[in-house]
Amino acid sequence: MSDEAGIKQSEGEVYFPSQSVIDNAHCKDYDSMYKRSIEDPEKFWGDIAEEFEWSQKWDKVYDESTPPFFKWFTGGKTNIVTNAIDRHLKTFRKNKLALIWESESGDDVRTYSYFSLNREVIKFANVLKSMGVQKGDIVTIYMPRVPELMFAMLACAKIGAAHSVVYGGFSVEALAERIEDAQSKVLITADGGYMRGKIVNLKQIADEALARQGTIEHCVVVRRTGHEIYMEPGRDYWYHDLLSVPVVNQPCETEQVDAETMLFILYTSGTTGRPKGVIHTHGGYMVYTATTFKYVFDINDEDRYWCAADPGWITGHSYIVYAPLLNGSTSFMYEGAPNFPYPNRWWKMIEKYGITILYTAPTAIRGLMRFGNAWPNRHDLSSLRILGSVGEPINPEAWKWYYEVIGKSNCPVMDTWWQTETGGFMITPLPVTPLKPGSATRPFFGIDVDVLDLDGKSAPTGEEGILVIKKPWPAIMRGILHDPERYKQQYWSKYTTMYEAGDSARKDKDGYIWVIGRLDDVIKVSGYRLGTAEIESALVSHSAVAEAAAIGLPHDVKGHVIHCYVVLRAGYAASDSLVEELKKHVGHEIGPIAKPEKVNFMDSLPKTRSGKIMRRLLKARALGLPEGDKSTLEE
Ligand code: WT7
Repeated sequence: MSDEAGIKQSEGEVYFPSQSVIDNAHCKDYDSMYKRSIEDPEKFWGDIAEEFEWSQKWDKVYDESTPPFFKWFTGGKTNIVTNAIDRHLKTFRKNKLALIWESESGDDVRTYSYFSLNREVIKFANVLKSMGVQKGDIVTIYMPRVPELMFAMLACAKIGAAHSVVYGGFSVEALAERIEDAQSKVLITADGGYMRGKIVNLKQIADEALARQGTIEHCVVVRRTGHEIYMEPGRDYWYHDLLSVPVVNQPCETEQVDAETMLFILYTSGTTGRPKGVIHTHGGYMVYTATTFKYVFDINDEDRYWCAADPGWITGHSYIVYAPLLNGSTSFMYEGAPNFPYPNRWWKMIEKYGITILYTAPTAIRGLMRFGNAWPNRHDLSSLRILGSVGEPINPEAWKWYYEVIGKSNCPVMDTWWQTETGGFMITPLPVTPLKPGSATRPFFGIDVDVLDLDGKSAPTGEEGILVIKKPWPAIMRGILHDPERYKQQYWSKYTTMYEAGDSARKDKDGYIWVIGRLDDVIKVSGYRLGTAEIESALVSHSAVAEAAAIGLPHDVKGHVIHCYVVLRAGYAASDSLVEELKKHVGHEIGPIAKPEKVNFMDSLPKTRSGKIMRRLLKARALGLPEGDKSTLEE
């Protein structure tokens, strides 16, 4: 069923937790707690929600009256910021560090207690209010990995507006179409960011994107690099100038909103068409992300937690910004590349800050593994007690290196399977779970998963099938912005009562889930999710290109890389320089992560008789595999 090549899964090996891991665990008995969560989800989630602050209690924990548009904690009023910041100010956590940030150069370190985080968020919130941002508006944020990114997100939430963060690695067209779709009136960006010692000209990209859309009225610019940039009078404002406006330094109350008020949208790639704006809301998302974080990382007040993802992705939204703050934890954030200037950059910071939990992606692990053991071995990594992985299946070789060389065989690896759409971890071990390298193990509390065959029946043990979630959970996406039909179609059309994730998986004899990969035309490059349609549309926006097809091929470090097939317009000739130009063009339109590794020219693309490009066939040919069923091919 799946066409993923190369991931070997070794079911035989099991790694058991040590006594110290068990002693520290918030949950020592997964089975009984899981059983409770499935038998009575309303009681289970209702009890947990009681631990948060609500200005008005909910009428109903779970509302399934209009499937598949499920609601949680309806009638309840709160704000995720009330629980992520405000309530900590009444406890010892007021003076606890919320965030430690280090610049790529290492010359700059900034720390924020919960008290100072609150102050920064209030300033940003007042800036937004003074620009006329109101409840229900969507503010677009396009920033490098700096603390202000986090402040801006929290400021939106605080005043009841929603944020739409566009990853700082995206480029002109990706940004323009997201702004347009969200109808944002305010954009928050920076002059630039640092990556591998070079300046990324974010403002310049933003200017080009702004020229392609018609909704932005104000643009707030945070100074990070200090290089010369264009500032449009009447539209662009330096953030540091706005701070001298008196109202910005006034107090600002956290707006109390309905549990189902939109907290953010985050665009992600699907099978076809433009990226879709996935909607998450205050109440259910808050309860679910906080709970997953607490149990999966066994978080305590002494911890220093580091999620090395970018805040611009769901991993960063949920597990850099919201869940850690909801738990009153101390997070570390690093601005730059993992191997800059040397491959020990990460290990040095783990030692320096005494990081206890590290959460990253298989592609980063494989990338650092290439440099050998000497780099990590130069550093004292003994502060680590739990490791995490996310983004794609982790191959057992990388898993073992992570476990043995980084974790010194003392730190369980939490391989967390989830998606932008799910808001939080779905299939994941707890620290007490016996681990099998390459398996995300068991469902989290309240998550009812299965692997189905094509007829919709449970697939036999060991057989590959379609991964589904049989019951809604508090952080399930609330839909796609402006497109409820697409939400139904994409996730609920095959089985109607079950959420279809788009992945294939197997279940083993112990009930462990082994996720294999995407079933659709989504390509995961270094864990980043890209749709073939976006890459193809970037290519055809070049004047030389008539038609294009993109496929993902397996790669040792990146998981997958993009190969493209291009049919030229009359009057253009294939050449090496055109290949380079097309690669650059895709990078400029979508972002460096989408740059194809290879561009091949063809006279025509293989298509079905109904005109669909047969990417499956292109892929089989590229890999030298059998071409399979060609009965629908238009010759
Ligand atoms: C897709 C979702 C959720 C944060 C980052 C990705 C793949 C994610 C795992 C894992 C196997 C994984 C799936 C999923 N995926 N984590 N631990 N094991 N596959 O979010 O960009 O929405 O991508 O990533 O294919 O469907 P995303």
